[in-house]
Amino acid sequence: MPYDFFVKSDIVFGCGAIKRLPDILKEYNAKKVMLVYDGGVKAAGIADIVLAEMKKAGVEIVIFDGVIPNPTNEVVETAAKIAQDEKVDVFVAAGGGSSIDLTKAVNVLMTNPGPIGQYGGMNLVKNPLLPLIAIPTTAGTSSEITNVSALIDTEKVIKYVVIDNKIVASKVIADPDFTKTMPVSVTAATGMDAITHAVESYISNMATPLTEYNSLAGLKILHEYLPRAVKDGSDMEAREKMMLGCIITGFGFSNANLGLVHAIAHTLSAHFQLAHGMANATVLPYVIAFNAESCPEKMVDMAKTIGLPVSGSLDEDKYLLSKELLRLTKELGIRTLSQQGIRESDLEMLADDVLHEPVLGFNPRQGVTKADVLEILHKAF
Ligand SMILES: NC(=O)c1ccc[n+]([C@@H]2O[C@H](COP(=O)([O-])OP(=O)(O)OC[C@H]3O[C@@H](n4cnc5c(N)ncnc54)[C@H](O)[C@@H]3O)[C@@H](O)[C@H]2O)c1
Ligand SMILES: [Fe+2]
Repeated sequence: MPYDFFVKSDIVFGCGAIKRLPDILKEYNAKKVMLVYDGGVKAAGIADIVLAEMKKAGVEIVIFDGVIPNPTNEVVETAAKIAQDEKVDVFVAAGGGSSIDLTKAVNVLMTNPGPIGQYGGMNLVKNPLLPLIAIPTTAGTSSEITNVSALIDTEKVIKYVVIDNKIVASKVIADPDFTKTMPVSVTAATGMDAITHAVESYISNMATPLTEYNSLAGLKILHEYLPRAVKDGSDMEAREKMMLGCIITGFGFSNANLGLVHAIAHTLSAHFQLAHGMANATVLPYVIAFNAESCPEKMVDMAKTIGLPVSGSLDEDKYLLSKELLRLTKELGIRTLSQQGIRESDLEMLADDVLHEPVLGFNPRQGVTKADVLEILHKAF
């Protein structure tokens, strides 16, 4: 059966890449540019560095600094109103997945009618968008190269995704220097998000040889360098490899999609605003053990890829990866659900909602029940 594999990224990679921003803005003939970021990116001094480079291009600048983690429809609509009123013609998003996802969604509303919620799903955006330059400051989501924007619908209390090739950033400035100010817990959580993407996309029922190649290559790099980046945030080799691993993994997961880990994480963030990477990491080992039944050979592929000693018995080896992920999450200080403020009495409601997540359709083990989800949530509690 023929399959599609879509990649459309134009990337400048490496420390100091930000210096290319003025020329890139000129390439796009930018006149009025909206710079989007959040408070953490401002406090880290990154917004000012980006702003200084933008000024060199002699463009008018409109700032939107109201991004929140797990961005909502309301924040998208607020930022879009400003961008429309100001008639901006290019976007620059400097930040983690929250800033880049929000900017992608705002960009949709520049050339397509609102509200943004109607674009939840696949390929529902009609008109082409304005240029968007993505400058990631975390190494986790791969949002800089994916065709995805994840948003919260506060009325429906769900995290939904807009998936459309039209929303991919036109240009990526991947400058690892920007990731070194991440606090330890953000490095750990965002890095575990990337590992989750590699693992879930590799076992997704949409995986193809092209996505599998990227997922495994990404996993190997991320697994090797995340502990180093968490241990010493100024280890620039580790920071650079993390950014590289994310981009490679992103090519895989934006084509193969994800699974039950993300179904649970989206539900947790929609109800309790948990940080996305942390939510994934907390349940990842238990979901992978649960999924091992359905794709034991793939679990062994991944175990071998990260150098775990296999015994040759499929029944034993299929659990090597989940055990290693549990060990890794403990080493990196990933918190349990209760440590993140979830109460035991919330678990029933969460399990009900997880079953409605569309991303479950890509999970290798189908027919997931409420009891299955509850068991995973109790283990992660
Ligand atoms: N589009 C996609 O393909 C995709 C994939 C996975 C996740 N996501 C989404 O991305 C969002 C999460 O993004 P994230 O994990 O990158 O975190 P984030 O953007 O929410 O940032 C987390 C925190 O870290 C701070 N921060 C970011 N970079 C920093 C730096 N260099 N120095 C200091 N502080 C810094 C931010 O200010 C914020 O407080 C979620 O909404 C998630 O659903 C999107
Ligand atoms: Fe994710």
